[in-house]
Amino acid sequence: MKVISVMNEKGGIGKTITATSIAWILADRGYNVLLVDGDQQGNASKLYHVIDTGEFDSISGLLEAQLSNNINEEVIKRCIHKDNVYNKVKKDNAEGRLDIIPSNGYLMNTNIKIAISENSGQVLLMKNILKKITESEFLHDYDYVICDCGLVLDMTVLNILIATDLLIAPIKLGGFEADAINDLKAQIKNLEGFNSHIKVKVLFTMKQKNKPTEQIEEFFKNEHDMFNSIISRSVIVEKSTAAFLPLPNISKNSKVTKQYKSLTDEILEVL
Ligand SMILES: Nc1ncnc2c1ncn2[C@@H]1O[C@H](COP(=O)(O)OP(=O)(O)O)[C@@H](O)[C@H]1O
Ligand SMILES: [Mg+2]
Repeated sequence: MKVISVMNEKGGIGKTITATSIAWILADRGYNVLLVDGDQQGNASKLYHVIDTGEFDSISGLLEAQLSNNINEEVIKRCIHKDNVYNKVKKDNAEGRLDIIPSNGYLMNTNIKIAISENSGQVLLMKNILKKITESEFLHDYDYVICDCGLVLDMTVLNILIATDLLIAPIKLGGFEADAINDLKAQIKNLEGFNSHIKVKVLFTMKQKNKPTEQIEEFFKNEHDMFNSIISRSVIVEKSTAAFLPLPNISKNSKVTKQYKSLTDEILEVL
């Protein structure tokens, strides 16, 4: 089981579109995928039509059960849901092909409970939950866990980062991206004692073709470990969001879907 997370401390930069698209493409290639929604906005859950599951049949239920040492297979099963889009349109919808741990607004409360807890394992919750899933005979064996994160490094995101093998840090080319990425890298460095093997790779999203953008791109390539695949800005992405569906479900062969497929190839090479 490899854990891939999508995080950068900015909103509206394509984190959720990236996480949900990669999850779809990996499932389409036959891998068993678990999508984890680590953002209280629950946008990834909404794109996969896993909503109204109840406050605790979600990532909150798992984190809080682990925090109070009350976790068991029963609780885990309750919080992992079969997605309602991929599994409906695909014929080979094998059990466990694309499952999701959703989130909702209650996650804010969970974050506070974790922050004020005296449990010394409060940053190892996600790592321990994933370990239990891997070790269980009764739960599916997932090849990839894809975590969508919010834009703040809260307790949920911290827990996710500590469990992460590959961190995809999207940046939208514009003004303040350099600061955000440097801050993120500094924070990852602070976590070294908990996760020394995390690999951080930067992904350009929403690229528009113009000269300043290309100059910034050159600068970033020299400074950071970047994916070669770049995601262009395209109206098809906005259409898929407006339709509340994952991008690869709306367009199999659009330019951006192909770019996400080539990003997935690169991810498979890295891990
Ligand atoms: N490549 C893209 N081209 C055009 N619009 C995009 C692209 N990627 C994301 N968007 C749009 O930008 C908005 C924010 O994307 P989202 O993935 O939710 O960002 P984040 O999770 O970082 O907040 C959404 O409305 C989405 O449709
Ligand atoms: Mg998001």
